[in-house]
Amino acid sequence: MTLRRVNVIILVLLAVAFLIIVQRNLLNLNDLLHKDNPDVEGILPFESELSPDLRLHLARQGEEIPIIITAAEERLGAVIAAINSAYQNSKANVVFTIVTLNETVDHLKYWLGNSKLKNIKHKIVVFNPEILSGKTAGDPEIAKIMKPLTFARFYLPAYIPEAEKVIYLDDDVIVQGDIQDLYDISIKPGHAAAFSDDCDSASVKGIVRGAGNQNNYIGFLDFKKGAIKKLGMKTNTCSFNPGVMIANLTEWKNQNVTQQLEHWMELNAKEDLYSKTLAESITTPPLLIVFYKRHSTIDPMWHVRHLGSTGAGNRYSPQFIKAAKLLHWNGHYKPWGRASSFSNEWDKWYIPDPTGKFNPVRKHAGDS
Ligand SMILES: *[C@@H]1O[C@H](CO)[C@@H](O)[C@H](O)[C@H]1NC(C)=O
Ligand SMILES: *[C@@H]1O[C@H](CO)[C@@H](O)[C@H](O)[C@H]1NC(C)=O
Ligand SMILES: *[C@@H]1O[C@H](CO)[C@@H](O)[C@H](O)[C@H]1NC(C)=O
Repeated sequence: MTLRRVNVIILVLLAVAFLIIVQRNLLNLNDLLHKDNPDVEGILPFESELSPDLRLHLARQGEEIPIIITAAEERLGAVIAAINSAYQNSKANVVFTIVTLNETVDHLKYWLGNSKLKNIKHKIVVFNPEILSGKTAGDPEIAKIMKPLTFARFYLPAYIPEAEKVIYLDDDVIVQGDIQDLYDISIKPGHAAAFSDDCDSASVKGIVRGAGNQNNYIGFLDFKKGAIKKLGMKTNTCSFNPGVMIANLTEWKNQNVTQQLEHWMELNAKEDLYSKTLAESITTPPLLIVFYKRHSTIDPMWHVRHLGSTGAGNRYSPQFIKAAKLLHWNGHYKPWGRASSFSNEWDKWYIPDPTGKFNPVRKHAGDS
């Protein structure tokens, strides 16, 4: 053995010893933090290892988990709370792709950069609404209320072309479980995406029907129209909610899913194919067509929804809400608004806007 090689070995050993010492010190420091902070004990599954603040600054290793989420200016607090919940409830190497409009980029960057989320791995992608022109113009009423970012989910491979498997989340969600578990749900061969079906156990408790929502295809599509009839789909097929989605982008590209969705948007703009009583997002019908009998399923506890519907959210027991892996306030009543159910679950993850522009509407003090 040459002297040089011996030196290298000694250096390596020293480095290892050093790392062990650093690790020890981190743990000791952590013990101290814990003693000072008994009230944070037990909130998160891995409290006993690292304090929340320390954990935020450690580099996360392992497979990257790409999460795509949109950031709309008028509800920017939503995406902040959603990201914070997904990040803090997992140790996984999550990477956020935040899709937003040009005018929101600065506000979003400032908010992230001046909060405890400043070290999260993320990328901001600007969505150009012009991509939708001619595809939603059919009904002027719909065009007026159209929120371009709700269509962002149709273009998933455009944001992270190198990724194979991704998670898409609506902004009005809170993640309570470890996002790694959602990511690990498998997508069957030949399927481009997985969704949570509307006939699952959580919704069947009368919540979907009772709230005037739909849970099958006829609630979303006009089966009297020729273009729909021709597809031969069953009207009573269980629908799904695309607010939480896992996608295989390789399959998505192979099957031209984006082009298919655009085709149905364009046809709807001309022939008005969607149900007249459509209560949910207008992005759902094209997805129902394209993924008819061609999608995998997500565990219902990973998409506990209708928290924003009249009365519906109130019917969940506190135990059920606690057990849910993900909460979705789809419907009219948002947790940053005045009258939503379980807004305290959302408040836990909200980080105030350092610019002061966004403010949750809250009941007067003492009302709670
Ligand atoms: C995007 O916004 C910036 C200012 O925030 C502006 O300078 C730029 O021209 C905008 N770009 C487009 C394509 O609108
Ligand atoms: C995605 O789809 C491709 C093509 O069908 C397949 O080879 C691959 O295994 C799938 N990946 C995952 C993570 O499901
Ligand atoms: C997808 O589009 C490409 C190019 O437009 C075409 O060649 C291919 O056949 C299409 N594949 C499917 C499954 O529709």
